[in-house]
Formats: sequence, C-alpha cells, structure tokens
Amino acid sequence: MIVRAEAYAPGRVELLGNHTDYNGGMVLGAAIDRGLNVTGRRQEDGLIRISSAKMGSMEIRRAELCPQTEHPWANYALGVVSELDSLGLPIPNFSAWVDGDLPAESGLASSAALEVATAFFLLKLSRAELPGLQIAKLCQRVEHQFVGVQSGLLDQVCSIFGREGHAVFFDAGNEEVRTIPFPCGFALLIAESGSKRELASGLYNERRKETQLAANALGIPTLRDASRATLEKSNLSSVLLRRANHIVGENERVRRALDLLSAGDGLGFGALMNESHESSRTNFENSTPELDLLVDIARSLPGVCGARLTGGGFGGAIVALCEQARATVVGQELARQYVNHTKVQPQISVCRIANGAH
Ligand code: GLA
Repeated sequence: MIVRAEAYAPGRVELLGNHTDYNGGMVLGAAIDRGLNVTGRRQEDGLIRISSAKMGSMEIRRAELCPQTEHPWANYALGVVSELDSLGLPIPNFSAWVDGDLPAESGLASSAALEVATAFFLLKLSRAELPGLQIAKLCQRVEHQFVGVQSGLLDQVCSIFGREGHAVFFDAGNEEVRTIPFPCGFALLIAESGSKRELASGLYNERRKETQLAANALGIPTLRDASRATLEKSNLSSVLLRRANHIVGENERVRRALDLLSAGDGLGFGALMNESHESSRTNFENSTPELDLLVDIARSLPGVCGARLTGGGFGGAIVALCEQARATVVGQELARQYVNHTKVQPQISVCRIANGAH
C-alpha cells in the first residue's frame, strides 16, 4: 500500500488559438516552468484535509463531498476526488499540502495545474493509472460540474502533455495532441497585468454561449466548420459575427503557425500573435485596457516579435515573444513603462517551456 505521494503539474501559456478549444478548433500552447505541487498521505479517519500556503486549510467528511462556498480554491482538488470516485477507482481519504510558484487568477491556468496535480497525486496513492487525455477530460469535468466554468481542454492538455522546448498542438476536433519544437533563440516573456481574473468566469461562459449560438445560426455543430466565406454570406448579428470571426481567424492562425514552427520562423510567429491580440481586442472583446497597454508597450520594444493576451482574457497576463538575448532588458523596460502609466507593478518573468505533470 502506498502511504505517501507527491505530484507536480505546471501552468501553461496559450500561444495561439484563443477560445478555439471549446469550438472544436485548434490551439498551440506550452507548459511553463512554474507550477503546483501536491504532497500528502492517506488518512484513515473519514476526512479529506487540504492545506495551501496561500489559501489556508479546509477539511471535509468524505461522505459530504460537494462544492465548497467557503473555500472555493479547494473545489479544484475536491472535484477531482469526486470524478475519480465516479470512475469507480479506489481513492482513499487523504491529507494534502498544496504549494508552488504559480499565481492564482493570472491567466496561467493555476486551476488546471491544481486539478492535474491532484489527479496525479491521487492516482499514485491508489496505484491506479489513466491515459493522459482521460485525466485531462476528468479535470475539465471538474471545471464544468464542481466549479461552474464551461472551459475547454487546452489548459489540462498543456499541463499534462507539455514537453521541454516544445509547443503543444491540440486539435479539439479529433483530439490529436502533438508536441512541436519551438524555435531556438526566442524567449517567452509573461507579464501579469495585476488585474485578477476572478470575475471572468461569467464572461467566459457568455462567450462560450455566443459562439455556440453563432454555430447554431449557421447550421453547423461548431465554429470549427465555419470559413470566412460562410461568415461573409451569413446574416449573423454584428456581435455574433465578430465572435465567430475571432474563432475562424484563430484557427487559421494556428494552421499558419504550424508551417512557421517547422521553418523555425519566430518573427512570423510573433506577427500572428499580434493579429491574434487585435482580434481579441476588437472581435472577441476579451481584452482589458491593462492587457492592451502591456501589449502596446511590449511591441514597441526592440527585440519583441509579437505579443498577445494569453488564456481566457478579461484580465490576467500577456505573453510576448522576444529575442532571447534581449529578454531581460525587454522585461525591465516593460515593467518600467507599465508602472509609469498605471502605478501598478506588473509581475514579469521570462519563462522556460517545460515538461508536463509528473
Ligand atoms: C481558458 C480555458 C481554456 C481556453 C482558454 C481560452 O484558459 O480554460 O479551455 O478556452 O481560456 O483559449
């Protein structure tokens, strides 16, 4: 019997393919070198205890497992217990300690990292194994059923399948996951705007609803099947047309990016990131003034190939692609100019593309 276990899951950066995953589309992301650890042991007293350095402690009777309003952060872990239970796996009671260097609500998928790390931890404790994609899907069900966010699979897929120095390509249409070497000599700079994403779940669900309404109006199952030509001929309302244009444009950009990645073309990739942000700003309206400002400053700095918001949007972080040799200076200058404008100190880090959960 295994008494103690430990697991780690990284956060992710979304590179291209914004909000495409739940529209049956394609996305490029990567696991980053920041993540969460879940460490713990079996408990024989009918209780589950979860503690976190940043969030505090909570305990719950196993028999009363349900979403918590007082400790919403714990729902990502408790939801995993509930999902593993419903697969009939022999998950024991446990106490667990959550720690790490991935900030919450920053658009770097800390919720997925907590779900994935909890799933790996509990599978280890139970001596059970599941295929990676099945783990990703059960963690997604946690978001849908325990947390109330109708998210796609991007975050969990990147956290599980990430590979050092590689982008993760995910096609939600046929569930293909592939890792692709990321061009050498370029760094990814993440800048957190300081505007938290805590109110973002309602807006996220609203976008999901809007894109599904657009697909329904076009008579197709998902916007994956829409093209520019379909949209031009359609009589979608102006809001739904802009939402659909974003998804169609993002899928096209991911397709083009695959060729650029094979050619090691960081400059071309950066140009697509710029287009992507512009579409988020005007079509999908999931940017914020703070994210726009960070993107504008980043793009004005020598050595930056492109910048865009990363993840769900409505706050959180941007990602800039820049020449490796200039990354530190770009980060310092970006911080300086952002503070001048906003009086808010942004968290900026040059991140390494890292391996997935283990
Ligand atoms: C969040 C969701 C993902 C994806 C992105 C936007 O990170 O969890 O599934 O939809 O937003 O692309």
